[in-house]
Amino acid sequence: MGGITLLLLWLLLPVGVMRCALSADRESDRVAELLGQPANVGFAQYAGYVAVDAAHGRALFYWLVEAAAAAAEAEEEEGMGSYKYCMCFTRKFRWSETQPPPEVRAAFAAYAEGGAAMSAAQLRRFLGEVQGEGAGAGAGAGDADAEWIVRRVCGRAHLAKPLMTLEDFYAYLFSDKLNPPIRSQVHQDMNAPLSHYFIYTGHNSYLTGNQLSSECSNVPIIKALQRGVRVIELDMWPNSTKDNVDILHGRTLTTPVEIIKCLRSIKEYAFCASPYPVIITLEDHLTPALQAKVAEMIAQTFGDMLYCPQTQSMKEFPSPEALKYRIIISTKPPKEFLESKAYKSDDRKENNSSDEEDWGKEIAYRAIAENEEDSLNHEQDEEDSGDDDSSHNIRQNSEYRRLITIQAGKPKGRLRDSLKVDPDRVKRLSLSEQKLEKAAASHSADLVRFTQKNILRVYPKGTRVTSSNYRPLVAWMHGAQMVAFNMQGYGRSLWLMKGFYKANGGCGYVKKPDFLLTSGPNGEVFDPKATMPVKTTLKVKVYMGDGWRTDFSQTHFDTYSPPDFYTRVGIAGVPADTRRNKTRIIEDEWVPVWNDEFRFPLTVPELALLWIEVREYDMSEKDDFGGQTCLPVLELRPGIRAVPLYDRKGRKYKSVRLLMRFEFVPH
Ligand SMILES: *[C@@H]1O[C@H](CO)[C@@H](O)[C@H](O)[C@H]1NC(C)=O
Ligand SMILES: *[C@@H]1O[C@H](CO)[C@@H](O)[C@H](O)[C@H]1NC(C)=O
Ligand SMILES: *[C@@H]1O[C@H](CO)[C@@H](O)[C@H](O)[C@H]1NC(C)=O
Ligand SMILES: *[C@@H]1O[C@H](CO)[C@@H](O)[C@H](O)[C@H]1NC(C)=O
Repeated sequence: MGGITLLLLWLLLPVGVMRCALSADRESDRVAELLGQPANVGFAQYAGYVAVDAAHGRALFYWLVEAAAAAAEAEEEEGMGSYKYCMCFTRKFRWSETQPPPEVRAAFAAYAEGGAAMSAAQLRRFLGEVQGEGAGAGAGAGDADAEWIVRRVCGRAHLAKPLMTLEDFYAYLFSDKLNPPIRSQVHQDMNAPLSHYFIYTGHNSYLTGNQLSSECSNVPIIKALQRGVRVIELDMWPNSTKDNVDILHGRTLTTPVEIIKCLRSIKEYAFCASPYPVIITLEDHLTPALQAKVAEMIAQTFGDMLYCPQTQSMKEFPSPEALKYRIIISTKPPKEFLESKAYKSDDRKENNSSDEEDWGKEIAYRAIAENEEDSLNHEQDEEDSGDDDSSHNIRQNSEYRRLITIQAGKPKGRLRDSLKVDPDRVKRLSLSEQKLEKAAASHSADLVRFTQKNILRVYPKGTRVTSSNYRPLVAWMHGAQMVAFNMQGYGRSLWLMKGFYKANGGCGYVKKPDFLLTSGPNGEVFDPKATMPVKTTLKVKVYMGDGWRTDFSQTHFDTYSPPDFYTRVGIAGVPADTRRNKTRIIEDEWVPVWNDEFRFPLTVPELALLWIEVREYDMSEKDDFGGQTCLPVLELRPGIRAVPLYDRKGRKYKSVRLLMRFEFVPH
């Protein structure tokens, strides 16, 4: 019940009662105007709180309306109004002490074997049997030594045999630092080629806001790197005097930033969140002279950090492990390289009429847009378009080309040809989100086969001028490594993206599941649309939540009463696994206790994300937001865990967290 709760009384209180309750000066309680009431109502009204039982945090909310006719007369009597009516509500303005949920109490009783306190040995048994931790169960942040936990939680380091009370046990379980929901170490094999990983990728990494008029800056680049983003995109244009290189979003009003500033920031922050390689994707609109200048700047700025490939046509990409602490350049090769045989054959097919079938309206759309060069609707992402008007200067370009580890290309002609796997050469292909969706519909298997060896990058469509994002799952299901997102953006898609890259210790590289990397005996590959048997059922229990009472003001959610929280939980994954549900609404509680359980049968748990969003129910308006998080399902640590929540922009709240339980039931 949003707004006002617990309507208790609707009565005319005798003046005497009011007098004693309102002995203080109530001018501060005077209501000047009330929403929904006409202005100048011609009577005075007051509203406020009267403490009833301060010790237990109980107060009376009152609303007094002075009887208009009686007002003048009353003033002559003891300066008191006589009142037409009065509404009162009780309001809890403090919270009761929180109790551990029944299952936590039961677990304590069971493992403390009926005692008042739990020993380290008993806690170890609990960690092994309920939390799936302990000897050989796989390390995680919380797989700490039981004795260390007991000492840490109880602050009784000096005792020879520390013991844990129920309160200590509950405090431990509900601490997201000591008992987090996912593992925090890099635990996947990092020795496979780059194409075997999903890589945390930014789009137009230099923009501070929207795609049309925001400032370009090195600050969003730094923020992205601090978050673990591993692919930074720079859009290079000549400055107006054509003798230097600026980073900006071409054909828009974004104000440029000098490339050298971006490169220096990348150098400084590249490895603050992860030791694994940072890939710079360059969108190149430069003359050969300026390309040479960029090559020199890159070489000088990064020095030994820069990885330069031994050969121009790699058969396989190096591994993240081999490229630790290295910077990698990815862009289209300079012009003359494009004229090699492979590309020519693609060009030749460009006007085959079957293009129409493959691309449909997409081609028509592009043809129109390209005639209107200055149109803001112009396809935004041109890094690979190959529409250079530069003349060739092989010597100047060779230095630039030498830096390119991941060669990029844009689809030319038929999609099927672009997705052809070349056994002698790996490359990167870029598709817009719409093209990817089309390709997924008609060439699903070709996409999966392509991404087994090559890198596929997907970028937001040009009309997302507000820096919004798209749903990343279609791309992941087809093995696309670089799903480029506007990291300064907002919205649920970005929450999913951030949740996805919490996996593998948040290092920015997440190993693709094996089924996306292997083909069957007859060349058949993973089909995201196929119905597969359920592999495991994820059981999710939401016990309770806490922290809003310290992180929010008392009136943030409801002005007159404590909030009415509920939690939405759901799975984002392959279509068969996508499901959502929600808890009951708990009314008027800062510390809601739900004890609700949900079951999610999963056919492809490898690609499933569990999303959680707390809302505050409002009868009259849109529900308020109370926190969110998103967790990779296979990284979930089973057992009772404290799940920290984040705000809309993805910043962690200081104290808001849920107490939850995760359990996997194999099929
Ligand atoms: C372009 O860059 C050069 C070299 O840094 C600089 O001298 C020139 O002033 C710049 N032009 C503009 C318009 O900023
Ligand atoms: C494609 O079109 C160009 C001119 O538009 C023409 O010269 C060329 O022969 C065409 N190629 C094919 C394969 O139709
Ligand atoms: C155009 O594509 C169709 C269908 O793929 C093919 O049958 C035809 O031979 C192609 N024509 C040319 C000129 O390449
Ligand atoms: C939602 O969860 C409740 C409680 O576990 C369950 O009874 C209900 O069937 C679920 N609804 C859906 C659509 O899964």
